[in-house]
Amino acid sequence: MERARVAIVGVSGRMGRALVRAACEIPAVRVTAAVASAHSASLGRDAGVLAGVEPLGLEVSSDLSAALAQADVAIDFSQPQATRSNLDACRAARKPLLIGTTGFADDPSEAELDAAAREIPLLIAPNTSLGVALLMDLVRQAARALPPEFDIEIIEAHHRLKRDAPSGTALALARAAGEGRDLSPPQALSGSSAARIGPRRQGEIGFAVIRGGDIVGEHTVLFAGPGEELRLHHRAGDRAIFARGALRAALWLRDQQPGRYGMRDILHYDQSLR
Ligand SMILES: NC(=O)c1ccc[n+]([C@@H]2O[C@H](COP(=O)([O-])OP(=O)(O)OC[C@H]3O[C@@H](n4cnc5c(N)ncnc54)[C@H](OP(=O)(O)O)[C@@H]3O)[C@@H](O)[C@H]2O)c1
Repeated sequence: MERARVAIVGVSGRMGRALVRAACEIPAVRVTAAVASAHSASLGRDAGVLAGVEPLGLEVSSDLSAALAQADVAIDFSQPQATRSNLDACRAARKPLLIGTTGFADDPSEAELDAAAREIPLLIAPNTSLGVALLMDLVRQAARALPPEFDIEIIEAHHRLKRDAPSGTALALARAAGEGRDLSPPQALSGSSAARIGPRRQGEIGFAVIRGGDIVGEHTVLFAGPGEELRLHHRAGDRAIFARGALRAALWLRDQQPGRYGMRDILHYDQSLR
């Protein structure tokens, strides 16, 4: 099978550089476009050197449309303010897009994302680790199986520079738990916006956020019942896991029909990356 040509948007960031490094180890993919913002200090630099690997002969540019002409699929790990324009560019170029960026809230809205997904394959993954993809299923299952007396709390910890809180993964875990409890997405997320004051409300999914140091990412879903507790926990030890998962998902996405996808869809995708 031909190598997938990948455009990385947000290439100068922590995740962008991790993606370039991971791609060097995966023969099935080739980074053919490297995109940063128009005011980036990295414009014109070699994407490989920027990532701390060998030169790739690939300059960082801010021209996403030109970049997409060189790519089969785009991976966006940038900033939420850029999500809409990145989506529009991929729609215009008819190129599949994986959005790993988190914190874009309702801009673009769910309806806009659905509309885009009628034209391009669109995978939205607030967490691209395969372990978290499985965790989502386990949480959905546990929330369905355990009676409502089991309170659900989502505890997440990240490095001190993370901008959004609770994390996109924590919100996705709440939505997964909500599906297991037959809650609508707004009901599942109702506890996410403010610190809780007073006793918890029956049925509400609670959130606790920790920010500090260089924690890559930890998520625990606690089911606290009368006399017993179940904790489902995931710890990311290295950004490389998100990068490898995103590249694996992008390889899969390249060959899909237009539609809305998640990491769940690629969980059992068995194409070897070696
Ligand atoms: N899905 C997952 O598994 C996962 C895992 C980790 C992080 N994330 C999310 O991924 C995003 C990036 O995380 P990070 O830790 O890499 O952040 P980061 O280090 O701040 O990198 C983001 C980069 O995006 C670039 N950027 C800003 N506007 C842009 C635009 N319009 N076009 C292209 N690039 C643009 C910025 O670089 P310049 O100023 O040089 O342009 C910046 O270096 C965040 O939303 C984070 O929450 C997701």
